[in-house]
Amino acid sequence: MRNVVIGFLGTQLDMGKKRRWRPSVQLCGHDDFPVDRLELLYDDEYRRLAHSVEQAIASVSPETEVLLRRMDLADPWDFQEVYGKLFDFARDYGFDEDRERYHVHLTTGTHVAQICWFLLTESRHVPARLLQTGPPRGEDMPAGTLDVIDLDLSKYNALQQRFDLASREYNALLKAGIETRNPGFNALIERIELVATTSDAPMLLLGATGTGKTDLAERIYELKLQRRRVKGRFVQVNCGTLKGDRAMPTLFGRRRGEMGGAGSERRGLLREADGGVLFLDEVDELGVDEQALILHAIESGRYYPMGADHEVTSRFHVIAGANRDLAALVAQGRFRPDLYARLNMWTFTLPALRDRREDIEPNIEYELSRAEKTLGTQVGFNTDAAQKYMRFAKDPATLWPGNFRDLGASVQRLCTLAPRGRVTVKMVEDEITWLTAQWARANENQDAQLVRDVLGDAADGIDEFDLVQLAAVIRACRQSASLSAAGRRLFAASRAQKASRNDADRLRKYLDRFGLTWADVSA
Ligand SMILES: Nc1ncnc2c1ncn2[C@@H]1O[C@H](COP(=O)(O)OP(=O)(O)OP(=O)(O)O)[C@@H](O)[C@H]1O
Ligand SMILES: [Mg+2]
Repeated sequence: MRNVVIGFLGTQLDMGKKRRWRPSVQLCGHDDFPVDRLELLYDDEYRRLAHSVEQAIASVSPETEVLLRRMDLADPWDFQEVYGKLFDFARDYGFDEDRERYHVHLTTGTHVAQICWFLLTESRHVPARLLQTGPPRGEDMPAGTLDVIDLDLSKYNALQQRFDLASREYNALLKAGIETRNPGFNALIERIELVATTSDAPMLLLGATGTGKTDLAERIYELKLQRRRVKGRFVQVNCGTLKGDRAMPTLFGRRRGEMGGAGSERRGLLREADGGVLFLDEVDELGVDEQALILHAIESGRYYPMGADHEVTSRFHVIAGANRDLAALVAQGRFRPDLYARLNMWTFTLPALRDRREDIEPNIEYELSRAEKTLGTQVGFNTDAAQKYMRFAKDPATLWPGNFRDLGASVQRLCTLAPRGRVTVKMVEDEITWLTAQWARANENQDAQLVRDVLGDAADGIDEFDLVQLAAVIRACRQSASLSAAGRRLFAASRAQKASRNDADRLRKYLDRFGLTWADVSA
């Protein structure tokens, strides 16, 4: 392969006045980059300089063939002229890529010429790589520097690594720096990152209590702030407390003098979220009237503060969080379908802790360092204590019903009680007993509550034996669309063994024993 360089004669630099550096000459003096042919583009006005460069090259590098190519430019700063002439040059050149390797020397010529070279090589009209040379630095490099610029950005490993690194940082931000291993969770976080940084549309975070929705919403805001998608504040609205008379002034604000003249002016949460993020936490708790108010405000970004006679405008990104399945609430007529449609653009469901057991260990470490920070002391588990706790935490029978809230509180308790900063096996055993009892009691309470919901005071007359069973039946009914569906689910095993004929009838008879019908137990 012959090595060919194409470049402009440098009308200033190639005179060699500056540090005796003549780029087109020195270019040919690199032992590790032998130039077989140099195509030197020159303007007739500089014919003498071109010849002098040719001679100089002959003495530094006799094996280099120099071809002087005349290219007169009325104005070397005129983009159209330079591009047109170079384009014609490239078209007529007859590149032979099987035999020759081409480079374009960028160091000489005007900036306009550099841009034209860039465009022509990028579009492969000139099948060359770009060369940049620099003056000698010190004795050991008499020919100066020479760098090949490879335009294929995908090959720029370093750049790619920077993108990856940035993405890892944003991921780490969303995960609070916890090295989670669950593939489903990690994929979820990646999607959230992508949506948070490329879209202004509402995001909906679903998930059981304590799965980290509120925490995540704040981190999404941090990410949007870092990526300059928002510049305002993070404003959290607890929808459970937005009820009745308080809802309007809290959201929309109030003009001074409203309500008998004594009230003070309030900006309202929507106004405070202007340019930032409005987080509608527990949006499933919103009453129907409040749903209408919110929908209008987030759709138009305009509303009237109480007592005001002109509208105000506020623009914000919306994130909503909910414990319950909003689609089911819509089906039951308890949530407005139009508000749901508005929020349900990007919906993410956070998994329960028990469904990502491989993340329990890193999460315990995270909770541990959090507890250390609050307590201001270092705490560690004794080896046997750590093993015992980890086995319990990861056991499929351990459900962690309160998710991170339970886990965080448990670690915090252990750390607080640890004598001289060591958690012992005995302490872990006590903690496990306590948690198990706590969860069992919560379950009993829930069962009792469920049965009481349906039976009223008659629940008092029911044996514990029946109560547990009835609670499970009610739960199944509430999650099923019809009596037959609930029956199929509750008697699935008998059905598979063909021991049961009519599931619906069997369920109807069971409910009847307590004086209940399908209408009483279905949601
Ligand atoms: N990824 C996590 N790892 C460890 N702890 C977490 C994580 N996410 C949240 N937490 C902690 O768990 C607790 C509950 O989190 P958060 O309040 O965000 O849950 P939530 O889903 O909003 O619950 P709820 O629906 O009950 O409001 C908080 O103390 C929070 O700091
Ligand atoms: Mg929350």
